[in-house]
Amino acid sequence: ESAADTARVLSRVFDAIEYRGANHATVVELARHATVPVFNGLTDTWHPTQMLADFLTMREHARSATTSFAYVGDARFNMGNSLLVSGAILGSDVRIVAPQSLWPAEDVQQIAQERAEESGARITLTENIDDGLTGVDFVHTDVWVSMGEAKDVWAERIELLRPYRVDSALMSKAAPGAAFMHCLPAWRGMEITEAVIDGPQSAVFDEAENRLHAQKAVLSWCVSGN
Ligand code: NVA
Repeated sequence: ESAADTARVLSRVFDAIEYRGANHATVVELARHATVPVFNGLTDTWHPTQMLADFLTMREHARSATTSFAYVGDARFNMGNSLLVSGAILGSDVRIVAPQSLWPAEDVQQIAQERAEESGARITLTENIDDGLTGVDFVHTDVWVSMGEAKDVWAERIELLRPYRVDSALMSKAAPGAAFMHCLPAWRGMEITEAVIDGPQSAVFDEAENRLHAQKAVLSWCVSGN
């Protein structure tokens, strides 16, 4: 069935539609043809509902008025793109810390720069871990091989990202007491060590719980406008 027909059918049955899948074009097509609100619950390119939970979590753990965070790892997919642009919209100090070949695409960087000019956000893209981590209150990472990617990229990706694994030494480069965040599922021992994700700096399970509260807010807004 075409996404357009699915949108028409679901609009007759439900008050809102969440699309959680891979291809970003599908949620765009659903939204074009639906007559009820359609929201993106995850695509390969963007993860906006996770952003609501993440910024709620960062606000709860905030230690200063400016939200400063680094995203460390493969920044070309849903989490890297979304943290860059959301931070730009919200006026954060955003650092993308990754090999240059894994930075968000030029068009995503362009959106972030434009939004940063409006909000006063500070955007940094760097390969340098020391520069990128200095002073940040939050350190984010995500899986090294994202949804939809072929498994044969693993060897090359590990080679490229090994220095960017979030371990205790990397966390020590951030501000003292900085919190660690991950949208989950995590690959323990790969992009993140157990000592960090299970340690006192981890905000990961607050972040996971906040998916519930943020998602309820989205549904409430879709259905009642409040
Ligand atoms: N960010 C992860 C998935 C999150 C459910 C990925 O792209 O594979």
